[in-house]
Amino acid sequence: MSFNIAIDGPAGAGKSTIAKRAAKELSFTYVDTGAMYRAITLGLMRSGTDIEDARALEEALADIEVTIDYREGVQQVYLNGENVSGQIRTEEVSARTSACAAKPQVRAKLTDLQRGLAERENVLMDGRDIGTAILPNAQLKIYLTASIEARAERRYRELVERGEECSIEEIAKDIEERDYRDMHRQTTPLMQADDAILIDSSDMTIEEVTARIVELARERI
Ligand code: CDP
Repeated sequence: MSFNIAIDGPAGAGKSTIAKRAAKELSFTYVDTGAMYRAITLGLMRSGTDIEDARALEEALADIEVTIDYREGVQQVYLNGENVSGQIRTEEVSARTSACAAKPQVRAKLTDLQRGLAERENVLMDGRDIGTAILPNAQLKIYLTASIEARAERRYRELVERGEECSIEEIAKDIEERDYRDMHRQTTPLMQADDAILIDSSDMTIEEVTARIVELARERI
């Protein structure tokens, strides 16, 4: 049987960086579910779909296929066969993804893909509803969070490094709005699973959080 680790938490808590590193140390496959929601969002943006129109959404989703594979150990995400791993990281896609991800039809489209991966191999999967809905039987669940200030600061540095112009106040506002939407949507909102271990990374380094998760996993494998 495969060993599954679920890491959930709000935007900017360091989930993907930490999950990637911990997966590497454990020789697990890292599955970034946010990238899948981003790819669907990009598809819906390209087709100009009004996501509030249920029929239009159904029709557009029928024409969208999201798949992933790995290139030198790094997850690639494909929208109808096109590698969109770079294009899904813009602020525009980020801002729109939580509204798309709130739609039950969008979530339903990714459930089987995510569960299938976890069944086949040892995965470390990060997202918003992995421990609560996708992999309720994961052998280790982590809820990774940090203060708004720490998260905005990190996202700001990330974007500046990438050469994107931004203001820290706007980023904080965007994070707060996204958290609110993710935590208050009807379908599988972001929340800590009863059996998840809480890690607050506000005053921890990436190395410290990674080491903690690896240690918790090794205790259970
Ligand atoms: O990297 P960051 O935390 O900013 O975002 P992400 O993990 O790429 O996810 C982008 C958005 O997708 C989130 O704000 C959620 O609205 C949505 N998402 C979700 O609903 N469920 C997941 N399992 C993963 C992401």
